[in-house]
Amino acid sequence: MLMTVNRTPRPATRRAPRTTNKVRASNPAEGRVEGFLADASRHLRVCAEGRTPVRFGVDLGTATIVLTALDDEGRPAYWDFVRATVVRDGVVVDFQGAVDAVRTLKSRAEATLGITIDEAATAHPPAVPASDCRACHFVLQQAGIECRALVDEVTAANALLQVRDGAVIDVGGGSTGVGVFRSGELVSLSDQAGGGHQLDLILAGALKLSIEDAEVRKREHGADVASLLRPGIERIAESIRRQCGGTPPGTVHLAGGALRLPQADTVIARYLGWPVRAYDHAELITPFGIAVS
Ligand SMILES: Nc1ncnc2c1ncn2[C@@H]1O[C@H](COP(=O)(O)OP(=O)(O)OP(=O)(O)O)[C@@H](O)[C@H]1O
Ligand SMILES: [Mg+2]
Repeated sequence: MLMTVNRTPRPATRRAPRTTNKVRASNPAEGRVEGFLADASRHLRVCAEGRTPVRFGVDLGTATIVLTALDDEGRPAYWDFVRATVVRDGVVVDFQGAVDAVRTLKSRAEATLGITIDEAATAHPPAVPASDCRACHFVLQQAGIECRALVDEVTAANALLQVRDGAVIDVGGGSTGVGVFRSGELVSLSDQAGGGHQLDLILAGALKLSIEDAEVRKREHGADVASLLRPGIERIAESIRRQCGGTPPGTVHLAGGALRLPQADTVIARYLGWPVRAYDHAELITPFGIAVS
């Protein structure tokens, strides 16, 4: 869906206007990503009928570790995830936990698909030092998977989105990564702390819940807590605005799981006053983009 509001950026505390235009992709080319993601979403822990997985990706995220698979025509064939807090601020903080998570995903996939996964691509957040990037490589290796490619998450997301002019945003559990593309070239890339975990902290504080319970409440009753989380979502919008240098980058494409809250995309669009495109199953964009990479 694409929405545009012609407003200048405003402080997070002020109420935003109610005028937004949402436009769903209407032609087949525009609907390519939506079709891919809808198709992919149907293959959680099941193999797509008639598709042989040949190309794999592993997303070592702050909130979720995801394994994705494509067939030889680039169609989504399978995916699986585990929730694990083994990565923080883009750094693997629990190496053995990360290896165990990837091993679990690999063995479940191999049992379900009847194949061996020998190699996969993986990704690191933008702006992570090379030493921490190498840790991602070693996690895969220790889990018995050769790392065939190591890319940054925003570039991975764009391997699927194929944005030529605009911004690709990955709002995950821990951080908000921003890449600006011009004529298909990445012209700026950055990452700032702030994502779904910060929303959990806000909710935990407001409702006097543990962070774990706040996380579940947010995911399962997002509509009920949306107003409490609005300032947190506007902080994410401000992070996007700042990382774009305050200048409209063209359409802003939202990837990542943190903005799956009802109306989060509208809050972002109203705050920025820039065209914003949100995707159903946006949490699958980066993981499948990694497999594409
Ligand atoms: N239905 C939902 N409603 C609201 N938030 C959700 C929902 N599903 C997932 N999330 C949030 O999305 C975040 C995880 O998104 P994602 O899987 O993209 O992050 P990650 O890749 O693990 O993190 P990062 O990219 O920062 O390392 C979590 O904070 C989680 O609470
Ligand atoms: Mg991520």
